[in-house]
Amino acid sequence: MSSACRVVSAATSRKTNPPGPGDNLPVSIPASFIQELLARADLVEIVGRYVPLKKTGANFSGLCPFHAEKSPSFTVSPSKQFYHCFGCGKNGDAINFLMEQTGAGFMDTVRDLAQEYGMTVPDDDRSPAEREDEQREKEQRATLTGVLERAAAAYKKQLRAAPRAIEYLKRRGVSGQIARDFGLGYAPEGWRFLTSVFPRYDDPLLADSGLVIAPETTENEEQARRYDRFRDRIMFPIRNVQGQVIGFGGRVLGDEKPKYLNSPETPVFHKGHELYGLYEARQAIREQGYALVVEGYMDVVALAQLGQGNAVATLGTACTFDHVQKLFRFTGNIVFSFDGDAAGRHAARKALDAALPLATDVRSVKFLFLPPEHDPDSFIRAEGDAAFAAAVRDAVPLSRFLSDAAAQECDLSTAEGRSHFAANARPLWQAMPQGLLKQQLLTDIATRAGVDAAALLTAWGGERAPERQFDSDRDHSRGHAPSVAPTAPRSASRITSRLPSRSPSQAQARNIASLILRDTSLWEWLNDNDKDLLSGQDGLYGELFRWLDTQYLEHGAQPLAALLVAAQNQAFGPLIAEIDRVNRMVPTVSSATAGASAALDA
Ligand code: UTP
Ligand code: MN
Repeated sequence: MSSACRVVSAATSRKTNPPGPGDNLPVSIPASFIQELLARADLVEIVGRYVPLKKTGANFSGLCPFHAEKSPSFTVSPSKQFYHCFGCGKNGDAINFLMEQTGAGFMDTVRDLAQEYGMTVPDDDRSPAEREDEQREKEQRATLTGVLERAAAAYKKQLRAAPRAIEYLKRRGVSGQIARDFGLGYAPEGWRFLTSVFPRYDDPLLADSGLVIAPETTENEEQARRYDRFRDRIMFPIRNVQGQVIGFGGRVLGDEKPKYLNSPETPVFHKGHELYGLYEARQAIREQGYALVVEGYMDVVALAQLGQGNAVATLGTACTFDHVQKLFRFTGNIVFSFDGDAAGRHAARKALDAALPLATDVRSVKFLFLPPEHDPDSFIRAEGDAAFAAAVRDAVPLSRFLSDAAAQECDLSTAEGRSHFAANARPLWQAMPQGLLKQQLLTDIATRAGVDAAALLTAWGGERAPERQFDSDRDHSRGHAPSVAPTAPRSASRITSRLPSRSPSQAQARNIASLILRDTSLWEWLNDNDKDLLSGQDGLYGELFRWLDTQYLEHGAQPLAALLVAAQNQAFGPLIAEIDRVNRMVPTVSSATAGASAALDA
């Protein structure tokens, strides 16, 4: 097990057990440091950055940022420095909150928080010079986002005073509310609007942040020749997951070219990492259980307007591995949407390449191809929500798209074409992480190539072990040995061995439910008899297992967070939320087995 893994599990175990002397904390960060950090951090203030809080008695309360609700069930205890949501059951301390809220990892969160409170993480093996560099970069990033925020506020204000821009947005069906949610603005005409916003137009930060274009000339000339990048455009501020403005996209109001201007790459803005609308979409992604990736800024805004708030867009670039990895921090399910034309197919192929190494058994990636004349915005307006929902449901799963992409321009009726297909499929298949999905795909590809799976594997010269290790939290989805047949996790046999031949007792049912909530992929390892036995019970547990079975049939294995959200309105919702809570009280080891057995033996 990697040390990163250990760190994260320790963070989880801390959730309900503040670290004590006997706690199994990572060697890298002493428990005392975390304690000290949490003692200095003010959870009310930290939560307050994201959630408006009201004092209610000894505690504070507000609308839970982790699930949709109309009346507040999210409470923060200043004395315990602990938050708890009575609606969705999420709870924890400042570190848990920030990890959950920003999607950042444990180490990054601890480092950032420590820095905020003037503490140095003791495990820090960086040299003082490295630390200084990092500090300087951090300060520069902070000033850059400060400048960009200020510009965004000014553009926003300008929008209110620009009837032409308001008229344009109205014509595109964007309401005032949605414009506010996305912080839309307007950069007025004229070359130097920003002189009225910033005290010094020659401040290097204006050029560094990409707001002002400063052509390379002598100093005096340059002063004279600087000008605003964005003029007479609708402004779409691009935010990072912390909500800071890091760049802009600007659209013309008419048909002039270029249609969009974007901020250049800067220390805070990297197109290959950022997704437009992710900050705004986080909540809807959790609620709807998946993220929809579209191509345009306008698609994201229009979809939010049409009740599809879970859409995000790449920034006029191809989808990258980093994009996909970032999205998987928020959901296990991604649907890519593309225009049905050749450019859309090409973009889809890029997205496939980006997603393949991350396509573990507990995740789902689908590709939605719209009719050539439509983008998601125009499609949903022309065909309606229901048609769009149906299109999402019928989207092409990654497994099929992989095979279809490999079969492109191959005549499968000939041996040559079939061999060519297999050759095309090889690098795609090899890019996938170990797992059942990968194994099934081997069979599919072999069938389509007209050979048997073993022969195909021999022809391919076995399988390379994956070169990169990804941030997977599942042991069996990480490539250990170059073997094709994945073995069932040990916890699967634990379930099977626990299954009596007749209807299980309530306690047994609870143990099994608990194991499955520890590792949601386990359901798939049960045979039909076992599933029937579980699903055939009376009462809440029977209902739960029947529901689980349908969930797996419809969506495949989903991450726990997605399952819990999906179960919220079910009668057994509170039951599994409670089991999950108990599960979390037990230190997690990388595999479900040890933790779950501890839970069962407790
Ligand atoms: P689209 O042309 O599909 O834009 O380009 P859109 O967002 O649907 O806008 P509308 O509906 O025409 O108003 C998709 C994305 O490609 C990038 C932008 O990120 C845009 O949202 N793009 C497009 C540019 O960066 N520059 C361009 O000139 C055009
Ligand atoms: Mn469009």
